[in-house]
Amino acid sequence: MSLRLAILGMGSVGRGIIQTISQKELGLIITAVADSRSGCIDPDGLDIPDLLERKEKTGICGDTNINAENVVLNAPYDILVEVTPTDARSGEPATSYILNALKLGRHVVTSNKGPVSLHYHALSSLAGNNGVQFRFEATVAGAIPIIQTLMHNLGGNEIISLYGVLNGTCNYILTRMAEEGLTYRQALDEARTLGYAETDPTYDVKGIDAAIKLVILANTVWKKNISLDDVDVTGIDLLTEEALRLAEQQDATIRLIGEIIPEQNIYRLCPRIIPRDHPLVVQGSLNAIIVRTDLAGDLLFVGKGAGSLETASAVIGDILFIRDKYAGGN
Ligand SMILES: NC(=O)c1ccc[n+]([C@@H]2O[C@H](COP(=O)([O-])OP(=O)(O)OC[C@H]3O[C@@H](n4cnc5c(N)ncnc54)[C@H](OP(=O)(O)O)[C@@H]3O)[C@@H](O)[C@H]2O)c1
Repeated sequence: MSLRLAILGMGSVGRGIIQTISQKELGLIITAVADSRSGCIDPDGLDIPDLLERKEKTGICGDTNINAENVVLNAPYDILVEVTPTDARSGEPATSYILNALKLGRHVVTSNKGPVSLHYHALSSLAGNNGVQFRFEATVAGAIPIIQTLMHNLGGNEIISLYGVLNGTCNYILTRMAEEGLTYRQALDEARTLGYAETDPTYDVKGIDAAIKLVILANTVWKKNISLDDVDVTGIDLLTEEALRLAEQQDATIRLIGEIIPEQNIYRLCPRIIPRDHPLVVQGSLNAIIVRTDLAGDLLFVGKGAGSLETASAVIGDILFIRDKYAGGN
């Protein structure tokens, strides 16, 4: 029996998930979808080519009388796939969707940093009490499977520290400033043109996006209970070309590095001068993470931190984990 998915959000990530599910035999069907203005439900499984074409042509995925809340409460599904926009301050409306699905005893997979950074402990204990999974691999470092790896594969280790480049937009800007001598403004405009940076790139360049990922890692991997206010954050928006030039003269460069040293309660994000051959000096919009552990030693992870299919990869990994653990669905 196929596992039934209800997907909230048909943007970059949602479409990547839907396309992948239509192209691979994964034992999954999509029984409901909602976007910001509409929704559609079919207990036998939606016609995916139809759905993708309708969204592309009309901008809406279905019936304007159906919304995301109706889908969560009334559609038949085993897993809610929540891929709506992140609101880092309120976590809404995603948190309410997730809460309602968990209360109904449905598994939830999300790529949304808001609910996980603000309410991880409450959501995961609700999931545990209801015998379902709450999974969120895609919230940190996109395609890099860092959460599953740290929480489970390295479960027997003490994870002593983590250092990482966790925001592809900032990394792209810093790379272009160093390589091509672009000003911060020029590099930011280029990142926008290429679709890396949002029209309002404040979250990225002020370091808030990467800091939220540190909060998620701290609270999930190390079971801390911190918020964005506990992270010492300096973005790249005030970085001068002069600082970068001086670093380059010493065979070094600047990267926006996030750092967690749990033993010392250090949660910090700031631009750092590091040697050009350091493993965290990755190019363009890549992410990179180094973790130090007691048994496995140092590990390095590099990969795409964002993108439609890259993020879909992480979301689908979570879905398949649930499929395999609960073969046959609820
Ligand atoms: N893009 C990435 O590479 C990436 C990587 C990691 C994590 N994420 C996270 O994944 C999530 C989705 O990202 P994205 O890039 O796909 O965003 P996006 O392109 O902006 O798409 C968001 C989708 O959510 C829909 N939506 C908005 N408000 C909604 C609501 N109240 N109820 C139901 N649907 C709603 C939008 O509807 P309309 O189509 O009607 O506008 C759109 O389809 C975000 O939380 C983001 O932070 C993204």
